[in-house]
Amino acid sequence: MRRAIVTGTGHYLPERVVENAEFEKTLDTSDDWIRARSGIERRHFASDQETTSFMATAAARAALKDAGVEAGQVDAIIVATSTPDLTFPSSATMVQAELGMSGGFAFDVQAVCAGFVYALANANALIVSGQAERVLVIGSETFSKIMDWTDRSTCVLFGDGAGAVLLQAGDGDGTAADRGILSTDLHSDGQYRDLLYVDGGVSKQTTGHLRMQGKEVFRHAVEKLTQTAEAAMAKAGVASADVDWIVPHQANLRIIKGTAQKMGLPMDRVVLTVQDHGNTSAASIPLALSVGKSRGQLKPDDLIVTEAIGGGLAWGAVVLRW
Ligand code: UT7
Repeated sequence: MRRAIVTGTGHYLPERVVENAEFEKTLDTSDDWIRARSGIERRHFASDQETTSFMATAAARAALKDAGVEAGQVDAIIVATSTPDLTFPSSATMVQAELGMSGGFAFDVQAVCAGFVYALANANALIVSGQAERVLVIGSETFSKIMDWTDRSTCVLFGDGAGAVLLQAGDGDGTAADRGILSTDLHSDGQYRDLLYVDGGVSKQTTGHLRMQGKEVFRHAVEKLTQTAEAAMAKAGVASADVDWIVPHQANLRIIKGTAQKMGLPMDRVVLTVQDHGNTSAASIPLALSVGKSRGQLKPDDLIVTEAIGGGLAWGAVVLRW
């Protein structure tokens, strides 16, 4: 059976780091509140040069280097983003050009914070169906560009960055012992679109700002993340006791803890980056995969569950063996 196996990871974080205390100068907020309610301590904010495609390209180069693969050997690039440089062409085609590729194909996926999980599911389908051998899957975001800096309930929570993985076709025997993606589980429910959205866009002739009913999103998050993670685990034929790492979307430490607890897993089996990155939307899982690998947390043959939820609402999970 064909499997899509992660053979390289990479990431890019903007140079500028902003500590919680900086927000105390302009907003009625505090380092204590932000830490206690979200677990966030600092985040990176992109300069004008550090665009979504720039960061995506840097993360992609690092993933290719890690895998020992040349850009010319890649068949497809998928970039998960809600904050592209331009309305079109896709950020993925910009990465394709920057990498010097003249073959293959590239496209963006927009599922907000669940974007990377959606992109992984699409890349897996391309590989399993035989359409592609090697796919770069990237999450890259510049959410600092859609913040309302007067809204303390949102602007302290988000950050910028990019992460990438290289997926390569490999053989498995069709069991949960195989390396690679073992199952995917995707959902959305547009009746909740008002809970988290940007109040502008091309056809409205504006850029807009992110708006969120945080408490409501929180309420849906723990429940839906647990459900999708458990559904993906059932499809893969694995149980909580088999899981080595949860690599969750990094939106809020309390959501991450609540979900791990419901899944019956201790926090020492969770890769955590939310304290240093904030919520980087579609970039948060590939950033956590790359950082988790470089910390020595993720090791070959580890069983990993990734899960994410965001605007739409859209949510999903992927189970993979590293
Ligand atoms: O990635 C996409 C998915 N997004 C998420 O998963 C985010 C989900 N939501 C959350 O993470 C949390 O709901 C927040 C971190 C956004 C908020 O935490 P909370 O515990 O739900 O706080 P809250 O919204 O209930 O607000 C509590 C209080 C409010 O004051 P009152 O009404 O109780 O007087 C807010 O006005 O905290 C106030 N508040 C703040 N205070 C200081 C809101 N933002 C701030 C702030 N500093 N930055």
